[in-house]
Amino acid sequence: MDQHNHPNPVSVIKAENGIAVIQIDNPPVNALSHAVRLGLKQAIEQVEVDESIKGAVLHCLGRTFIAGADIKELGKPPKQPYLPDVIAYLDACSKPLVSALHGTALGGGFEVAMGCHYRVALPQARVGLPEVKLGIIPGAGGTQRLPRLIGQEKAADIITSCRQVKMTEALEIGLIDALIDENDLLEGAKSFLIKQFGTGEAPVSISKRPIMETNEESYASLKAKVTKRTRGQISPIKALESIDNAATLSFEEGMAAERAIFLELASSDQAAALRHAFFGERTIAKVPGLENIDPRSVTDVAVIGAGNMGSGIAAAFADAGYSVTVVEMSEAGLEQGKGRVAGIYQGGVKRGKLTQEQAERKIASFSFTTQLADLSRSDLVIEAVFEDMQVKKDLFTNLQSVVGPDCILATNTSYLDINEIASVLEKPENVVGLHFFSPANIMKLLEIVDAEKTAPEVLATALAVGKKLRKIAVIAGVCDGFIGNRIWARNRQLLEFFLEDGAEVEDIDKAMLEFGFPMGPYSVFDLSGLDIAWAQRKRKKTSMKPAERYVEIPDLLCEQGRLGIKAGKGWYDYEDGSRKPQPSSEVAKLVASERVRKGISQRKLSSEEIQKRVLAGMINEGCKILQEKIALRPVDIDMVLLNGYGYPVWRGGPMFAADQLGLADIVRTLKEMEAEYGEGWEVSPVLAACIERGMKLAEWQCTE
Ligand code: COA
Repeated sequence: MDQHNHPNPVSVIKAENGIAVIQIDNPPVNALSHAVRLGLKQAIEQVEVDESIKGAVLHCLGRTFIAGADIKELGKPPKQPYLPDVIAYLDACSKPLVSALHGTALGGGFEVAMGCHYRVALPQARVGLPEVKLGIIPGAGGTQRLPRLIGQEKAADIITSCRQVKMTEALEIGLIDALIDENDLLEGAKSFLIKQFGTGEAPVSISKRPIMETNEESYASLKAKVTKRTRGQISPIKALESIDNAATLSFEEGMAAERAIFLELASSDQAAALRHAFFGERTIAKVPGLENIDPRSVTDVAVIGAGNMGSGIAAAFADAGYSVTVVEMSEAGLEQGKGRVAGIYQGGVKRGKLTQEQAERKIASFSFTTQLADLSRSDLVIEAVFEDMQVKKDLFTNLQSVVGPDCILATNTSYLDINEIASVLEKPENVVGLHFFSPANIMKLLEIVDAEKTAPEVLATALAVGKKLRKIAVIAGVCDGFIGNRIWARNRQLLEFFLEDGAEVEDIDKAMLEFGFPMGPYSVFDLSGLDIAWAQRKRKKTSMKPAERYVEIPDLLCEQGRLGIKAGKGWYDYEDGSRKPQPSSEVAKLVASERVRKGISQRKLSSEEIQKRVLAGMINEGCKILQEKIALRPVDIDMVLLNGYGYPVWRGGPMFAADQLGLADIVRTLKEMEAEYGEGWEVSPVLAACIERGMKLAEWQCTE
């Protein structure tokens, strides 16, 4: 239902005992659209003037209390009444107000709740101020009222972590005043208010309260931690600044300062990028052509191969409530697999995420077998066995005689041709790729690979499964590397060119860290092991055109046993088992001698140039992927990089950045790169087509 056209989203219902109900009905999540703000203001005026009303409950219909400002309105000029003013009306109301919370009272929603004198909630409700995740700060008193309610340190934790607080904690720290245990939230809230009348105490609005005490030392250490974690994102720092103001300025001054920061951030590039990420996550789930297709029901899932990947996949499914069978072909392999699955949950116990008992119950919920015949009832089988075409073909051939006709056969291959795997089956329409990222129970990204014969119903089922797994599931077509690894392989090539052309390993890592990646790429290569890419490089080398530039340095490192952290040396040196990278003189020497051997005249590359080319390279490969219809839309590519490759979310993704920076600029950089790097680096015609038509890359449709 369209939130903007919903008539009369706020009404005042007069009940007995002089208590009125201010009711909000703005599906799907009761966002604070202009109509809701206006309605709330009018409602509060009515409560104020109507002498028969002694107090009011603020309550929302549907699945949740107000889930926040209307994010669709955030980038646009705000329309009156502004939210802080509406909340000021609530705050100043002479009659007691209680907000009745259910679902998720987030952002502006929780700010509204803090504008009321009291908050009561159902036990399953969650509250939070996740604005920082959208590149802004709470802009309607959140940074000023929350420290008054629970102190600066707790406020800073909730605001900068963006987490949703559960009700047991909320009650304990004073975010809410009471839990309503009975099912009828509204009745419970009314009873709460009547009890308050009985006490005879006049309610005090939060704005009038002094700031709650905070432990200065631990507040300072929290601030230091947050600042270190931001990696270029401004909003958490600005939120801390505003929370600090709560202690040094009056409420009114603090509110004015908060508003100024909010407005400045709301129109920033970072906030636009983070909104793109928010809506992008929801857009990718909407796949043209699949809207009206019912997914098959999936409850029994089997995972074949219990290596690191397979056991992670099995855990991901078990955690989402599926019944999971793990298959290994040998008893010994199965024992190891059991150990890996158990290790995942024992790790959870060590990190304090699970109790020992919960872990044991989880582990006991898996079935383990060496017999494919045990999979006759499976709805979905995922193979995560050795990356070998023949092994996979044989496995699927054997499987088809065991499983039912509607069982979906998925492969977790990262680069084998799924069309070829499917070709051995009588029902290739049941085959789909489910490409997980390691560790599969933690990483958010899932590429769903739509093979040539995959049935729409199978694809719809894979999407539904991805949603239940709470993954960011992106549909990709069949090609070497699908979306993510294909762009990443291209990027790796570029990073190698930088090295050969004159940049040092640590300069490149530094440039990428400054860009906002959590680790430098060469440190990542060392962490994952250089031999993994070696195999991929060998494969790639056979299909390369003779004129394509190839950098031998990584192969030479592998030949010298420099396989990364596990070998104690890779691109960096790791002394005495330490994981701390130290620049390696041996690598520097090798690089220098390769430059001489190839007659490359060394040149310095600035961080800026490295970043510019990395971005342009990703955009170009992304455009090629669009042209080949490997990705459905530019936003799908962004979601892959944001959720699987550490691309800084506050930059929105490379395709988003292309529009922000201007396509003509990107093409200019790419032309330079093409002139220097030659074969394989041709500028994608998609960019020229967008420029010619005066359209944004974001508008590119893969039907073109
Ligand atoms: N403004 C506008 N639209 C919103 C919205 C908001 N604050 N929050 C959610 N929506 C929309 C979603 O885009 C989605 O629309 P669609 O069905 O057209 O795709 C719909 O509401 C349902 O949201 P969805 O996230 O799919 O549902 P959910 O039940 O999984 O999660 C929430 C509900 C509220 C937890 C989640 O939507 C959320 O975190 N929203 C943002 C909350 C927030 O950041 N508020 C602070 C804003 S300042």
